[in-house]
Amino acid sequence: MIMAGKIIAFLFTLTATCSFLSSAWSYEGEWKLLEKSIGISAMHMTLLPSDRIIAFDRTNMGPSNITLSNGRCLHVSKTIDCYAHSVEFDPAVGSVRPLTIFTDTWCSSGALSADGVLVQSGGYGNGDRVVRYFKPCADCDWAEDPSGLSTRRWYASNQVLPNGKIIVVGGKAEFSYEFIPKSSKSDQTLYQLPFLKETMHDRMVPNNLYPFLHLSPDGNLFVFANDRAILLDYVNDKVLRSYPVLPGGFSRNYPSTGSSALLPLKLSNDGTPDAEVVVCGGTLPNSNVKANAGVFLPAARTCGRLVITAEKPEWEMEEMPLNRVMGDMILLPTGDVLIINGAAKGTAGWEVATEPVLNPVLYRPNKPRINESVTRFEVLSASKIPRLYHSTAHLLSDGRVLVGGSNPHRNYNFTTLYPTDLSLEAFSPPYLAAGKSRPSISWVKPGAELVYNQRVSLGFCSAEKGDLEKTYVTMVAPSFTTHSFAMNQRLLVLALDRVSETSSGNFVVEGYAPATAAVAPPGYYLLFVVHGGVPSNGTWVHIKH
Ligand SMILES: *[C@@H]1O[C@H](CO)[C@@H](O)[C@H](O)[C@H]1NC(C)=O
Ligand SMILES: *[C@@H]1O[C@H](CO)[C@@H](O)[C@H](O)[C@H]1NC(C)=O
Ligand SMILES: *[C@@H]1O[C@H](CO)[C@@H](O)[C@H](O)[C@H]1NC(C)=O
Ligand SMILES: *[C@@H]1O[C@H](CO)[C@@H](O)[C@H](O)[C@H]1NC(C)=O
Repeated sequence: MIMAGKIIAFLFTLTATCSFLSSAWSYEGEWKLLEKSIGISAMHMTLLPSDRIIAFDRTNMGPSNITLSNGRCLHVSKTIDCYAHSVEFDPAVGSVRPLTIFTDTWCSSGALSADGVLVQSGGYGNGDRVVRYFKPCADCDWAEDPSGLSTRRWYASNQVLPNGKIIVVGGKAEFSYEFIPKSSKSDQTLYQLPFLKETMHDRMVPNNLYPFLHLSPDGNLFVFANDRAILLDYVNDKVLRSYPVLPGGFSRNYPSTGSSALLPLKLSNDGTPDAEVVVCGGTLPNSNVKANAGVFLPAARTCGRLVITAEKPEWEMEEMPLNRVMGDMILLPTGDVLIINGAAKGTAGWEVATEPVLNPVLYRPNKPRINESVTRFEVLSASKIPRLYHSTAHLLSDGRVLVGGSNPHRNYNFTTLYPTDLSLEAFSPPYLAAGKSRPSISWVKPGAELVYNQRVSLGFCSAEKGDLEKTYVTMVAPSFTTHSFAMNQRLLVLALDRVSETSSGNFVVEGYAPATAAVAPPGYYLLFVVHGGVPSNGTWVHIKH
């Protein structure tokens, strides 16, 4: 008996050692169920500088799984609805607080304003011209401005601008853009954007909704719709350039939903950085029509990459290891891109996708690609939960990625294939492997409030000596994520002069805050140091308007 016990103990030690080694060398990330139910399905999601998550769904679909507090109810035509359709979630403690939205937020858009207020726009029916504000505090709730938009916006996209305003572009049958918040009640100015009409596939299945917006570091707006893109000077209401068509014949916007990200902007002390955009996944233009007739076409495998600031840009095409429609592209603090959620067949919409893609894929944009057979992609570990239409993802300040939602049905339905999902999961990317030492930021000078172009230094500690030449600092703007697009997502790699070890395990980084508001619009950012390939926890900093 004693012998057997000893043998078991010995085997156990051996296994533990092996698993440590394997986790350090070929760890493919890890999933954790954070909350079985937050009461709603997270169709839209953002992270506030308080590290709380705001999530919301539509408000016109009847009961959710959480009721409003204080006996509040919504009166929707002849029915009374006492359920919440928006919640505040605190990942640190797992608490859920119901919030009150009176109008319909279905397929709407949003952005965190320069002063940290979540500004959310549009939706459906009684909500299609509403602008809603969530100003964080202990027990705040939504405030709604019923005529905050000049026109109805359903499936529009938003971007924070250098002057602190938010541009709202497109929406179903809306070929225009406008700015919020309005300077005055009487300001109803709309700017026409024929590009949005020209890029529709057809009126019923436009394939260019939720256009991908990226603020170019020259201050103009990159607008991508379907398979085409322009650079818009929204100050002078002028299209400055048209980019080459993304080859391959796939559509990349709703309902052929792919995703897109502005790759990390590498700041230096001489001039404006180049900007590169990547677009991944999507499906054929007729996929939605086919799926509604019961034929589920395979999603696209391709990504296109374009230097939008180049004189003669050309799309560089790459192939993902998995086909994907409705994937989210989330920038990690390291500057790599996580492609997560979605399906391998069908399109966005109710009951029109099959074959959930459970494995996220990591894309390393900086990996040298000496020849065609070198891939920048890596398949990571699978979740158990399908995240199809109306699912979301968002980076957390601790470097994990929060994932929620999925409700490819008209109403909440828990007894069907791909049931409505009310859970939140956190995915830990490979850099969080056990056994990897994480750097930890100990101070930031001059502090959390930054001014453009000023000198910034920070101290961090790490058990890892690392290669100081390869240590860098990133700033990540929180996104507003819905329908597979992380609006306003932005990652800056700061210009540094020096990284030094001041005493054993203590390091100092000296560098510069971003130079201009076009590079980094005013607002809140998560500041990370990446040392030995591992990011610290993020610490919030703010650039004043
Ligand atoms: C939501 O509520 C429904 C109806 O009460 C119930 O059947 C279902 O299990 C609940 N779902 C979750 C995830 O709590
Ligand atoms: C591509 O580059 C890799 C890495 O150097 C090499 O192993 C591989 O043989 C190359 N493939 C081709 C087709 O040249
Ligand atoms: C849920 O979906 C199943 C299968 O499509 C359907 O039979 C059922 O009526 C739905 N339930 C609700 C509440 O919509
Ligand atoms: C990161 O933050 C978490 C709490 O969110 C904390 O438990 C952890 O120790 C922190 N890690 C480092 C390296 O600072």
